[in-house]
Amino acid sequence: MAKTLHHLASSFVILSTVLSFLIVADAKSQRFTTYLSPATLGLKKEKLSHLHFYFHDIVSGKNPTAVQIARADMTNTSSTGFGMVAMIDDPLTMRPELSSKLVGRAQGIYASASQNDLGLLMTMNFAFMEGKYNGSTLSVLGRNSVMSTVREMPIVGGSGLFRFARGYAQASTHKFDIKTGDAVVEYNVYVFHY
Ligand SMILES: *[C@@H]1O[C@H](CO)[C@@H](O)[C@H](O)[C@H]1NC(C)=O
Ligand SMILES: *[C@@H]1O[C@H](CO)[C@@H](O)[C@H](O)[C@H]1NC(C)=O
Repeated sequence: MAKTLHHLASSFVILSTVLSFLIVADAKSQRFTTYLSPATLGLKKEKLSHLHFYFHDIVSGKNPTAVQIARADMTNTSSTGFGMVAMIDDPLTMRPELSSKLVGRAQGIYASASQNDLGLLMTMNFAFMEGKYNGSTLSVLGRNSVMSTVREMPIVGGSGLFRFARGYAQASTHKFDIKTGDAVVEYNVYVFHY
């Protein structure tokens, strides 16, 4: 009897030891954060890239690439169009002509966010299609004071070849058609990435 009890007790000790190991192992595999060496993700030296392209904001005609999706009641009476929100899928080309090589598209939203001057909130992704950059993106979140000669907007991140990207974009109007509202904007983008 005593032997059986002893046997049972030691089996229990073994079982609970095994169980506690399992629980620890499970907790380890489910850890919320771990430190990694950058080499784990294949990250080597950080690079600085300069991208140059033209952004076509087409608001007129049968195939606009920028469409108004909302406005506030006061948008019409505001001299700055305050409250206007537009969705864009604007082509990005190598040269100022729309017919030149397409390198990507600017997809996102811009909105008139200033009551006293023309200031747009830009939230958009540059989705590139050119060569090795095909499928990589850069994300812009910034203020576009459209009447300034050069507008600077932060690049807040990226994907694909632009993972961990940070930098800035400088935009300057290349052409603005006052009749149609269509614009061609030159972009110089400077980004650090791996
Ligand atoms: C604002 O302008 C649009 C056309 O641009 C018009 O359809 C709409 O009725 C106007 N709204 C007001 C409140 O004036
Ligand atoms: C970019 O990638 C897409 C999908 O992988 C492919 O269909 C397309 O042909 C590529 N474009 C260029 C210009 O390489």
